[in-house]
Amino acid sequence: MKVSNKILSMPPSGIRAMFAMAEKYDNVISFGLGDTAFPTPPNVIKAVQNAFEDGYTHYVSCQGLKMLREAVAKKSREFNGIDCSEDNVHIAFGAGAALLLTFFTLVDPGDEVIVHAPCFPNYLQYIGMTGAVPVVVETYEKDRFRVTPQALEAAITPRTRAILINSPCNPTGAILEKEDLEKIAQVAVKHDLVIVSDEPYETIIFDGKKHCSIASLPGMADHVITVNSLSKTYAMTGWRVGYIIAPVAVREQMTLLQEAMGSNVTSAVQVAAAEALNGPQDAVWEMARAYEKRRNILVDGLNSIKGISCLMPGGSFYAFANIRKTGMTSDALAHMLLEKVQVVTTPGNAFGDCGEGYLRLVFAQEEATIEAGLERIRSILGSK
Ligand SMILES: Cc1ncc(COP(=O)(O)O)c(C=O)c1O
Repeated sequence: MKVSNKILSMPPSGIRAMFAMAEKYDNVISFGLGDTAFPTPPNVIKAVQNAFEDGYTHYVSCQGLKMLREAVAKKSREFNGIDCSEDNVHIAFGAGAALLLTFFTLVDPGDEVIVHAPCFPNYLQYIGMTGAVPVVVETYEKDRFRVTPQALEAAITPRTRAILINSPCNPTGAILEKEDLEKIAQVAVKHDLVIVSDEPYETIIFDGKKHCSIASLPGMADHVITVNSLSKTYAMTGWRVGYIIAPVAVREQMTLLQEAMGSNVTSAVQVAAAEALNGPQDAVWEMARAYEKRRNILVDGLNSIKGISCLMPGGSFYAFANIRKTGMTSDALAHMLLEKVQVVTTPGNAFGDCGEGYLRLVFAQEEATIEAGLERIRSILGSK
């Protein structure tokens, strides 16, 4: 059966490719998929069970349940400092689908969206599916992988519609600080561009730092679409619930589009998501503290292995390790680690060409698993 040219042009995911290769091996230690070993907090599980029993088993508003939109708006005002109400909120099938809705709503074929890379590879899929063109601005280890306002501005053309930013960043763990965001905001306002800010790792931030949302900067709420998710913050990756905060007129178009893309996120899941946001937040901060400890174990371990050097990521649960001194390409080393010691990593080039020479390693699994994985890598490359 013939399939569309659009689907054939979609770039495959290098993360999933390694995952598929790993299925052939037993006793694998995975630093591959961006998922966590933590269970979803029990109050959230209880809430979904109750919600099913209470009859949340039917269609609801495509925009999302009012109780969840109110919870999102309250959290976004109080935690992020974004001036918004439940009318600005749309509930989507995870941040992934939220981004897809965002780009279908914002851009026309031929428009350009600036993206800093190395980046979550699905960004290129979401933008490409709309017929728009992703324009990649590379970031470098020497700048701690922080995108500079100058580099973003230099990439602007008459076709540019939006700039997509991601902090804390997958895969580099880079953090954009308030001063960075202020300068990026100035560039966006000067050139009348929309900022799409993808913030699913907002609570996984280390060294006492606090997340800053660009939509919270004075006057920016009308220029920013904030995308977020419960996947990482609440260890709810499989629940598929995320959200968008956008100016009302734009949000209305997104809700219309979602009606054609699966209507509402599962009703009972939305009730549980409201509980996640309104209920106790201890689990969120406990997980963040645990990730910080795991980050230290992984990064210190990597830095003691021959041929590897790794910056301390400021947030997210990813380490982006420089492997150039091994003399191998990212693909060659990732494949060797899988074949020889059954360790799954993701080659850095899966996140853009500028990721060549790096491996991404996830540190969301147990400490003992991280330590065992490090020992296996060391058994191949040796100690410094
Ligand atoms: C930067 C970033 N954005 C968005 C997503 C999508 O998250 P979800 O669709 O689970 O909310 C991910 C998932 O790994 C991510 O790393």
